[in-house]
Amino acid sequence: MNSNSEASKSNAERLIDELDKGVGYGSVPAAIFGNDDLYKEELNKVFGRCWVFLAHDSEIPAPGDYVVRKIGEDDFIVVRDEDGKINVMLDACRHRGVQVCRSTSGNTSHFRCPYHGWTYNTKGALVGAPLWKNALEGTAKEDNGLAHAPRVELLHGLIYASLDASAPPLREYLGGMAWYLDLLFGLNEHGVEVLGPPQRFVFDADWKSGSENFAGDDYHLGTLHRSVFEIGSFPVSFAENMKGYHIQASPGHSLSFSMANSVDEPGPKFLGFPEALAASFNTARISAEQLEVARRARVFVGNVFPNCAILALPVTEDGSKHAPTAALTVRLFQPKGPGKVEFWNWFFGYKNMTPEQKERAYTAGLGTFSLSGVFEMDDTEPWTTISRSGNSVAIDKLGFKLNYKMGTPGIGIAEPVRENWPGPGEVYRTRYEEGVQRNMYRFYADMMKAAPGEWPSFEMDAGRSTALRKDADAKAPSAAEALEK
Ligand code: FES
Ligand SMILES: [Fe+2]
Repeated sequence: MNSNSEASKSNAERLIDELDKGVGYGSVPAAIFGNDDLYKEELNKVFGRCWVFLAHDSEIPAPGDYVVRKIGEDDFIVVRDEDGKINVMLDACRHRGVQVCRSTSGNTSHFRCPYHGWTYNTKGALVGAPLWKNALEGTAKEDNGLAHAPRVELLHGLIYASLDASAPPLREYLGGMAWYLDLLFGLNEHGVEVLGPPQRFVFDADWKSGSENFAGDDYHLGTLHRSVFEIGSFPVSFAENMKGYHIQASPGHSLSFSMANSVDEPGPKFLGFPEALAASFNTARISAEQLEVARRARVFVGNVFPNCAILALPVTEDGSKHAPTAALTVRLFQPKGPGKVEFWNWFFGYKNMTPEQKERAYTAGLGTFSLSGVFEMDDTEPWTTISRSGNSVAIDKLGFKLNYKMGTPGIGIAEPVRENWPGPGEVYRTRYEEGVQRNMYRFYADMMKAAPGEWPSFEMDAGRSTALRKDADAKAPSAAEALEK
């Protein structure tokens, strides 16, 4: 690339180039966080194309049930129509673009625009308007419905949509991550349901900080969450909790397990789900290997790119009153402007849990991972400072780079273990490792550089994330050079 074309690049393009070149060996420009220029590109190239989580089908069980959710910053009505099909439609009237639905959830047979009264059914079809004969006779109703998201798919009832008709099928997009989601949401044939409506709150942070944390930032547990270990909200010691795996399940999607070395070790099994419930776990939906991985698992924490975090772990809101039980949550870091995010948090339970088990799971979850929970308030404060400094003049002037090198050759103890691991992905038998974050930013950079309609490879072996380590070997600068970068 000649210097002229370099000079003509926007600030956003230059930052993504820097990330693209540096992420393989763990160098990330601090200015990608809270950045105004990048934010608009992210809405277009990441949220406007990737599969994003909207809702769970148990939130809208009956015909006419709907919720309003976001793709990027845009509102979409997620509604079950009279045939039971789930439709995802832009909440904008075909007449003047007015917001049609003024409630965030409910049940209806029709959506009526408040401006002039155009009325749509639950399939999004225009079915009528006031004074039709005088005002609109001759208008083709079939051409004037609400706009549908072109791609909608469900996985264990989790509703995902993409605004890009060229997106690969959801399971292809998830790649190896689907194996791990199946393991978590398919432990028995009954499946899962939401426990109450999602909790939401807004705070000043970049959506990427939440996503990369849930991609497997276990390193922060001993400092930021130290008090949680001390007060007994979580039944595993810090040292025990750090036993486990980091997994780049597929390009963009990463997860981390805290896991016993064998099922004979003391401590929680099946992520802390009650023993009586665990008796119902079986291989109706998953393989024997998946069931055994789940049996050893103490914590499952992961992120489906871009912003859908998934967490399951044994917790209690008050160790003196209640034993820990599994809290299973799906959480979204919904972009709401540069350096601003709306956090959405759903708790889930297995459908065959008793009412008491559901109540315990919900209350334990609320007391730990929620606006009033100890973990959540620990986490959000540092994230606000990441975007604040990322957006600063000093970071820009200094070309300040962040260190994401843990687990690159020569840094830390990460060693790949592929043998005896039954699942897909690039697997590391340590939780002191940042390949899970590099995998996310590798894919983020790929999406930000991709031309419309072009998709990065979803094959782990096709030269993307699997190559990170090899890439790092080839490009690895000396320690002194690395610090310079
Ligand atoms: S804008 Fe909706 S009916 Fe006119
Ligand atoms: Fe945390």
